[in-house]
Amino acid sequence: MPITLGDIPQQPRDEAFALTADFKADNHPNKVSLSAGVYRDGDSKPWVLSSVREAKRILHETTDLDHEYLPIQGLDSFLDAAKDLILGKEAAATANAVSLQTISGTGANHVGAAFLGQKLQPKNVFISDPTWSNHHLVWTVGAPNVTQRKYPYYDFSNHTLDFDGMMSTLEAEAEENDVVILHACSHNPTGADPSREQWQSLARLFKQKKLFAFFDSAYQGFATGDVEADGWAVRHFQQTLFGECSAEENPSSAPPGMCIAQSFAKNFGLYGERVGAFHLILPRQTQADGAKSELLRLVRAEISNPPLFGARIVQTVLSDAKLRAMWENDLRVMSSRITKMRSLLRQAIEEDPNSGDWSRLESQIGMFTFTGLSENQVLRLREVHHIYLMNNGRISLSGVNEGNVKYIAEAFNEVSRQ
Ligand SMILES: Cc1ncc(COP(=O)(O)O)c(C=O)c1O
Repeated sequence: MPITLGDIPQQPRDEAFALTADFKADNHPNKVSLSAGVYRDGDSKPWVLSSVREAKRILHETTDLDHEYLPIQGLDSFLDAAKDLILGKEAAATANAVSLQTISGTGANHVGAAFLGQKLQPKNVFISDPTWSNHHLVWTVGAPNVTQRKYPYYDFSNHTLDFDGMMSTLEAEAEENDVVILHACSHNPTGADPSREQWQSLARLFKQKKLFAFFDSAYQGFATGDVEADGWAVRHFQQTLFGECSAEENPSSAPPGMCIAQSFAKNFGLYGERVGAFHLILPRQTQADGAKSELLRLVRAEISNPPLFGARIVQTVLSDAKLRAMWENDLRVMSSRITKMRSLLRQAIEEDPNSGDWSRLESQIGMFTFTGLSENQVLRLREVHHIYLMNNGRISLSGVNEGNVKYIAEAFNEVSRQ
């Protein structure tokens, strides 16, 4: 029997995008969106960063800018700035790295999965449990030959990172060349990150077992307001695994490589412009040309070459000292509002003496918190209170503001009593 397209079973709607659409369609005056991973200001409005506004003004006034195709790898000056930002200037200059511009962080995750699936051919990719809602799909589509495994990440009863579970699983089950996805900072969805000491133990394990670290960096600067602090784990891994390899000392004892999927959606507020980069770091410089040629082939087949406008904005901001300082201030504006909302929401919830301990709101970091609310409670929040969050209980703190925090807290307490 020939296959007919009419027989394709219908896939479920993507949860994150479906919630955004349902929220838009809801006419209730008190509705609140805590689902979308996008920054909102104190009036729940999208915010264009002042540094981005200024960069756009400069670009607008630069009359000789054309709209020609970029090379396949993207805008070189943007890629240099992106690599400096994530690795630090010094390491960026010496690392054996190949960098490509991508369709935001998702595109970088996809290019990485497709490339590694074809060329490294790991037996397994280990993904944190829980994780960003798209990681599994990206690997299913991009690298169907690689088995997806979950590593424990979150202690659901104590609302903390399950570091022992994570370490012992990787120690016992991961094999040489296996890929492990790590969230560089602001783990999505839990908001629980390893401490620096814990990152150090992980880096030692990756080196000893020759595992491939795949860093997903979607929130650099957004978590703490400090790009150096938020880039620390990536930089520590690069130094521990490959620092000495830049001098070609003993590359054969190093893991097969590491990579970074870098998004500029959140930290520049450039969600719809789709600005990102993929950086592959290899033990030997001599390996870079072959790997780069394969990555370029992949990109050529999929998008030919990446879009220009957003990359120009990021490059303009990062290459100008005044604009960069402005941007770093923008990061502090966003991250400090989120931190403040964490405290306000905790206080408002705990005003009810039966609410229990919500200290996790303040100990977790970045845009998201795992509330621990059950799926039934999440559904009740949506149906009765018109508050939208992911079914797994994840909330984005950016949807909280001084005007709605009491309403949200009372609703959380109400559904917790059910
Ligand atoms: C962990 C993580 N990775 C990657 C992304 C990709 O985002 P984008 O494709 O918009 O850059 C996100 C966005 O929410 C994320 O949370």
